[in-house]
Amino acid sequence: MFSFFSRKQERSSITDFGFLGVDIHSHLIPAIDDGVPGYAAALECLQGLQDLGYKKVITTPHVLQDYYPNTSFTIRHGLSELQDAVREAGLTIQVDAAAEYLVDDHFLSLLRSGDLLTWGPNYLLIELPFAVPPLNLEDIIFQIMTRGYQPVLAHPERYSYLKEHPDRLQKIKEQGCMFQLNLLSLMGQYGSRVQQYARQLVEQSMIDFLGSDAHRPKDIEKLGQLIKSGELSILESHQFMNRSLA
Ligand SMILES: [Fe+2]
Repeated sequence: MFSFFSRKQERSSITDFGFLGVDIHSHLIPAIDDGVPGYAAALECLQGLQDLGYKKVITTPHVLQDYYPNTSFTIRHGLSELQDAVREAGLTIQVDAAAEYLVDDHFLSLLRSGDLLTWGPNYLLIELPFAVPPLNLEDIIFQIMTRGYQPVLAHPERYSYLKEHPDRLQKIKEQGCMFQLNLLSLMGQYGSRVQQYARQLVEQSMIDFLGSDAHRPKDIEKLGQLIKSGELSILESHQFMNRSLA
């Protein structure tokens, strides 16, 4: 267990995010979810990610029927317009899109219809409600996998009920679910409890992917601060799968 003071004294050899190469979680298609409101902010984020060493971004708008009723069509359309803007701005970073699906009844109907956006070899980014876990989480993971998708649970460190019941997290890990940690969790973006759990999950080698979950230019600025903070030294003895998507 690290103390606050000993952590601050750590030094990391990580000087940018080139060791990941690909970011697989963000909200950078303008005005279709709670992410960037327009192209100026989107391009500022993408320029920032490029400057931080990323070569590619797979951006993942929310699919959350009551608030952000995105479909494969709206996301693909938004991606195409964003790619045009990136080209016109002269950025070299590649931009692709998938989605972040809240696990609910709407998601289950999309799963049955097969109308889901994935990345890499059928990776499917899912998130859970923050207050209460789905009762049948293990069954949902099973359904996703039997339909040929590879589930990747976004930011497991942010669900307090998983921290309180590590057996549930372990169970879905054993079922084959992968986990994506938010980089900014490591510097306390979501509070000190989430920060502590994030470090614990990394140390236990539970994390497969790292993501920015960037919603706005301020988040990219914080990623730059994270590099300087030394908090990334914890990542140095672990392997992550982001690079396999380059
Ligand atoms: Fe997200």
